[in-house]
Amino acid sequence: APVVVAIDGPSGSGKSTVSRAVAARLGLSFLDTGAMYRAMTWWMLANDVDVTDPEAVAVACGKPVIVSGTDAGGPTITVDGQDVSGPIRGPEVTAQVSAVAAVPAVRARLVELQRGCAEVAERGIVAEGRDMGTVVFPQATVKVFLTASEAARAERRAAELRAKGVDEATITAMAADLARRDAADSSRETAPLAQAADAVLVDTSELTLEQVIGRIAALVEE
Ligand code: ADP
Ligand code: CDP
Repeated sequence: APVVVAIDGPSGSGKSTVSRAVAARLGLSFLDTGAMYRAMTWWMLANDVDVTDPEAVAVACGKPVIVSGTDAGGPTITVDGQDVSGPIRGPEVTAQVSAVAAVPAVRARLVELQRGCAEVAERGIVAEGRDMGTVVFPQATVKVFLTASEAARAERRAAELRAKGVDEATITAMAADLARRDAADSSRETAPLAQAADAVLVDTSELTLEQVIGRIAALVEE
C-alpha cells in the first residue's frame, strides 16, 4: 500500500512547514487540509453565505469546486479555477474557518476530496490537519501529533506575520484568535482536534525545524 503520513496538531505547531519538508525529502506528495477548509470558508464569504448559520453552510458547501495541487515543491489551491492561496490566509477567513469546519456536511465533502488526493498520489502522501490520524487516514503508515507550547506557537505565528509586514495590532489580534480557534477545534463534536491513540507525540518547542523534519523522516523510513 502507498505510504500515508498523517500529521495533526494545533495552529502554529509547525505542521505545514514540517510536512512539506518531509514530503519533499522523501519524494512524497503533500496535502495541507487546513487550506481546503480555508478555501471553503473563503468561497462562503465571497458568496454572502452566513457562516454563523450551520444550515446555510451545509446547503451551500456542495457548490464550490476545490482543487488541491499536492506537489511538495509548490502546493496550490483553487476554488472554481481561481488561485486563492493568498486570500485564504487573511484575517477574515482565519476568523471564520473554525465555524465552517465544524459543520459535518463540510467535513464529509472535504474528507472525500482528501482521500481522493491520497489515492492518486504516486509514491504516497504527507497529509496535515486536525483529524488526519483520527478520522481521514486511520490506517496511516505513520501518525504524528505535533505540539509546542502556546507561547512558542504564538511567537512563531507573530514572526511569520511580522516578516510579511503585518502591523502589530493585527498580530496581537491574530494571537488571541489562535487560542480561540484551538479551543473551538478541540471542542467541536465532529472530528475534534485530538491525538490518535497510535500517534507519536513530538513537542517542537525546544527543537529546531531540522530536528523535527529529521525525526519524522526517520519514523517513515523505519
Ligand atoms: P501549522 O501548520 O501547524 O500552523 P506552520 O508550519 O504554518 O504551522 O508554522 C510554524 C512556524 O514556526 C513556521 O514559520 C516555522 O518555520 C516555525 N518554526 C520555528 N521553529 C520550528 C520548529 N522547531 N518546528 C516547527 N516549526 C518551527
Ligand atoms: O495555519 P493554521 O495551523 O493556523 O490553520 P490551518 O491548518 O490552515 O487550519 C485552519 C482551520 O481549518 C483550523 O483552525 C480548523 O478549524 C480547520 N481544519 C480542520 O477542521 N480539519 C483539518 N483537517 C484541517 C483544518
